[in-house]
Amino acid sequence: PTDLLDVDDLTADQLAALLDRATELKTGRDLTQLPRTTLAMLFEKPSTRTRASFETGMTQLGGHAMFLGPGDIQLGHGEPLKDTARALSGYVDAVMARLFDHSDLETLAEYADVPVVNGLTDDAHPCQTLADLLTIRETFDGFEDVSVAWVGDGNNVARSFAVGCGVAGVDLAVATPEGYGLGEDCIERAAAAGRAPTLADSPEGAVEGADVVYTDVWVSMGQEELREEKLPAFEGYQLNEDLLGGTDAKVMHCLPAHRGEEITDEVLESDRTLVWEQAENRMHAQKALLVELLA
Ligand code: CP
Repeated sequence: PTDLLDVDDLTADQLAALLDRATELKTGRDLTQLPRTTLAMLFEKPSTRTRASFETGMTQLGGHAMFLGPGDIQLGHGEPLKDTARALSGYVDAVMARLFDHSDLETLAEYADVPVVNGLTDDAHPCQTLADLLTIRETFDGFEDVSVAWVGDGNNVARSFAVGCGVAGVDLAVATPEGYGLGEDCIERAAAAGRAPTLADSPEGAVEGADVVYTDVWVSMGQEELREEKLPAFEGYQLNEDLLGGTDAKVMHCLPAHRGEEITDEVLESDRTLVWEQAENRMHAQKALLVELLA
């Protein structure tokens, strides 16, 4: 691939190779992989994991990451994105961007002469999915016979995860409240990539037989005005011990978690949790991606 706007920019073989490389990179810091290489990191929204994992990853590969927040650049002051894309292409080797609008990311990729990586848009979060798939593969020694349930919002993280499960061939059941689903386009893309998710009638139906249950924030950053509308709609979708019942299912969350909303503190802090492996694997998966795109 030349860019990563969503996970289905990768074929199943490319995804498998990338996860293999990520596993190799976990065992050492080879500073010779990307010497004198610069990644621009463009952020319209705040971040902990995406910023820290890309910046540390570039350092560990022998390169450099440059943070460009909304207050640092002309983009927030009326300069068109297509001009930013072309100017940055004259300096840096790749651009990672967290933008509100996915169509802006497509514009960035269209005008940039260097690889563009999606660090989260309103539509997709492929870097999170790469880390999630690496975490599942490590925990269960592969993807065969692993059943995953997604419970909650069919948001950008869910959409990329569903498409990623399609590419990787992971069995996925999805339970979302009415009006908060993945969207037909996402289901079609997952099917085209290799496997469509199953749509469950209820959270209990999705969780039944699942080895892993994944949830994510209900009210994300910038959507606070939707809180009053969303919280009642998500009643019954909280990831708690009642929902998990007597199972020994693992739990996943891309973080940041809102304890008491989409997940309880008890579940998040229990032995079930894979969230810290997910967070760490962001860096390893992204290092593999950067080597793939730039080495
Ligand atoms: N999961 C994730 O993308 O975290 P940040 O918003 O902190 O980058």
